[in-house]
Amino acid sequence: DLFAATEDPATALRALREELERRNDLPPWAAQATQLVFGEGPPGAPLLFVGEQPGDEEDLAGKPFVGPAGRLFDKALLEAGVERPQTYVTNAVKHFKFKPTGRRRLHQSPDAGDIAYYRPFLKREVELVGPQLVVTLGATALRAMTGKPLPIGKNRGAVMTSPDGIRLFPTVHPSYLLRLPDAESKTREYARFVGELKAARREVA
Ligand code: URA
Repeated sequence: DLFAATEDPATALRALREELERRNDLPPWAAQATQLVFGEGPPGAPLLFVGEQPGDEEDLAGKPFVGPAGRLFDKALLEAGVERPQTYVTNAVKHFKFKPTGRRRLHQSPDAGDIAYYRPFLKREVELVGPQLVVTLGATALRAMTGKPLPIGKNRGAVMTSPDGIRLFPTVHPSYLLRLPDAESKTREYARFVGELKAARREVA
């Protein structure tokens, strides 16, 4: 029928991106961003990853997870046996929030209002992709998917169901691994992260 054509997920995802690009009620800081960074990947992907927000490199490239955190994420996915092109990767917040300093653009964490603003777009995006499992990377993604602040430590590494019935698998954000101060905890935490990615992969196998 005619309606089916408009509901083709790839077309609907493009329409969703365009709708967000046209919004004139964005949080005020979003005007500083170079561009919207929308999700990337095939509709129907079994695994969907949600990050926090684009960083400096993502803002310039217009693609999620291509900077330092993205490179670590790629390495971990490879070790976990997950093919990134077969997954869908997006962020809870879709513009880069930063404080302009001398020569660096300093990352600023999104607040509850920022997360709430983008949440309907994220939810629709997830609905259109229709993954079997949503892997939330860090606290912002988990908050965006559940609507409430939940601790990562107590929820990571196991499947939980979101209030709207979506299967979630919380884990840490790759940036957290980059920020760890000593080599020993970095190695340990990175191994745990890879182990969790493997567990997520097994959930959809
Ligand atoms: N961190 C995120 O949460 N998302 C990105 O796309 C890049 C860095």
